[in-house]
Amino acid sequence: IDPQLDLVAEIQRLKKEKNAVLLAHYYQEAEIQDIADYIGDSLGLSQQAARTEADVIVFAGVHFMAETAKILSPEKKVLLPDLKAGCSLSDSCPPHLFAKFKEQYPNHTVITYVNCTAELKALSDIVCTSSNAVQIVESLPADEKIIFGPDKNLGDYVRRKTGRDLVLWNGACMVHEIFSQERIDQLRREHPQAKFIAHPECEREILDQADYIGSTSGLLKYTKENPADTFIVATESGIIHQMQLASPHKTFIPAPPNNACACNDCPYMKLNTLEKVYNCMRFDLPEVDLPADVIARARKPIERMLEISE
Ligand code: 13P
Ligand code: SF4
Repeated sequence: IDPQLDLVAEIQRLKKEKNAVLLAHYYQEAEIQDIADYIGDSLGLSQQAARTEADVIVFAGVHFMAETAKILSPEKKVLLPDLKAGCSLSDSCPPHLFAKFKEQYPNHTVITYVNCTAELKALSDIVCTSSNAVQIVESLPADEKIIFGPDKNLGDYVRRKTGRDLVLWNGACMVHEIFSQERIDQLRREHPQAKFIAHPECEREILDQADYIGSTSGLLKYTKENPADTFIVATESGIIHQMQLASPHKTFIPAPPNNACACNDCPYMKLNTLEKVYNCMRFDLPEVDLPADVIARARKPIERMLEISE
């Protein structure tokens, strides 16, 4: 790429030329968020993917999100700037093992968190995201037997919120399991007025300390509406960009991880760069596609979620 090239102007030009829409998750680099047509959490992004009139969806996020967009809009071209942008949580639940696990619990309804492969969605009855998981579980009759996967932390949180006895798959996100309770306690002593907010993919010990628990869009809304001036944020640090834009006079501190060398950046989300966004739009590659039968089977549980969350 010519170093003189104005990538932002080029991406805007390609959007018009190709009738493309750029969807970005809150964990993306700030410069990608700044040129996106829509920024959101997993639910918001899938709702956008379902309703867009664009011919091309450029998904600045991770692979399972681009797959979800393809499942909802199979006639559209879906581009992912870096095909290696996977997800540790999705990887923690291989579909063939989950199929065996499911066999052990006949007569159970299977709810899968959207952070999983299309194959896994195809094995489930309803999909959920972190913003509607409680609502989805509560939409089922009280005596319904439920398997919930792949995130055991979100599952445990939903179990406690709803009082339902969910069977959990033992999966987790590497970014949300990295926080140090000890270092968070220390930080809270240094900032006694600060609100501590956390994503439900965090472990129970972290969630138990939180003033507010929510999806990325829930956390963002809380920081806009709550009068506190300092927030300690236990999720991927990309979300702080929108928090800071919405509340320029407030202070946002990323919750500290358990090892001074680590950080709470998602290594998969951060694989996408402005240059890769430009290249994928220029060459229409890499494209995310799925076999028609997987699309057909995975679509039903996602549509069920969208109907319940409307
Ligand atoms: P939400 O944005 O839906 O809260 O999801 C968080 C996440 O980990 C996405 O990978
Ligand atoms: Fe997956 Fe965790 Fe990264 Fe989200 S933050 S994409 S759940 S690894």
